[in-house]
Amino acid sequence: MHKLTQILKQRVDTTNAAPVVTPIYQNSAFEAHSPFFYTRKNNPNVEELEQVFCALEESAFAVCCSTGMAAISNTLLLLKPGDHLVINQLIYGCSYVLFERFCQQYQIELTVLDLTSDEGINAMPQDVSMVLFETPTNPFVRSIAIAAVVKQAKKCNPNCVVVVDNTWATPLFQQPLMHGADLSLYSATKYFSGHSDVMGGVLTTNDPVLAQHLREARFYHGAILDPNSAWLLRRSMQTFTIRMRAHGQATTQIRDWLQQQSGVEAVFYPQIDGSQLKGYATLLFFTLAESLSERYDEFVSALQLFDTGTGMACVTSMVARPYSGSHASMNEQQKQQMGLTRQLVRLSIGLEEVDDLIADLSQAFEQIGANELNA
Ligand SMILES: Cc1ncc(COP(=O)(O)O)c(C=O)c1O
Repeated sequence: MHKLTQILKQRVDTTNAAPVVTPIYQNSAFEAHSPFFYTRKNNPNVEELEQVFCALEESAFAVCCSTGMAAISNTLLLLKPGDHLVINQLIYGCSYVLFERFCQQYQIELTVLDLTSDEGINAMPQDVSMVLFETPTNPFVRSIAIAAVVKQAKKCNPNCVVVVDNTWATPLFQQPLMHGADLSLYSATKYFSGHSDVMGGVLTTNDPVLAQHLREARFYHGAILDPNSAWLLRRSMQTFTIRMRAHGQATTQIRDWLQQQSGVEAVFYPQIDGSQLKGYATLLFFTLAESLSERYDEFVSALQLFDTGTGMACVTSMVARPYSGSHASMNEQQKQQMGLTRQLVRLSIGLEEVDDLIADLSQAFEQIGANELNA
């Protein structure tokens, strides 16, 4: 055999290698007899990660996508022209823009309701085809009663698909499928990754027909998670529950401290009712006192331990301004309707020592003269 042929054909026999961690299957093609077929369809690292999510969500199926937005796009592909999509008013900015554009392009009616209230839920249109909402919401972490939305939506149309973006609760603290939702959706870029170093999206369901549609959509639209990201996410999931508990403890301490600061007008933290939402981790919003709103940028620059930017739910603390960050793509009127002001600060509490974070926030408040408000 020529050297070149040998180089091309050389393989090590891994039959008895028995690694303690599944290796990264960094290949696009599998032999014809393999059940994995082609990595755009399925890959061992993706499948292993899906098994982890099924265990966590207690769901029959999980479908991993390349990003949270890819998971949302995959879900929208369940709709057809003439359908009617209902979303909640408080929602991640990019999701909102995608819904507007997608619905306009494919002649799907879009209705925006306030599903945090009974009036909003009761306003559900009779011809609703899909309801999609986050709970807790981004921003303001308000809760939506999943079972009540499901009941109303299915009363209007028994075939309506109810989708909960459960990114901020995670299946550890809230299991939408248990409350009757058809699909749970996640940006895995957030808590599941937890280290700001990998992107991903997840959909979970108990419905085999929905699972099949989502897998096919993912295959034909090329939205599957890549093997490297699946491997990294799988590794992150090994510390998931420990990280979540630590985030949760630190966040409640900082929430309590913020509530006592004169420089703070309001703190937003979700209502943990114990039946739908059983706990919470890191995302916290607060508004700076009106008289300090002009000093917002100064406050953020004074913080030494909070990184700025769009990252959230990771091991390092972050600070961001939703008005010009996560919701920048929404217009002024939409932001006003959401109650999204320039004063709103978003904190994502990491795993640093809480005392250090409080000392950092404290000196930043001092720098902008918040302490003088006490006098
Ligand atoms: C609630 C929610 N859903 C979905 C997404 C989109 O996820 P990704 O950035 O992984 O595409 C985000 C992003 O911030 C989000 O906050």
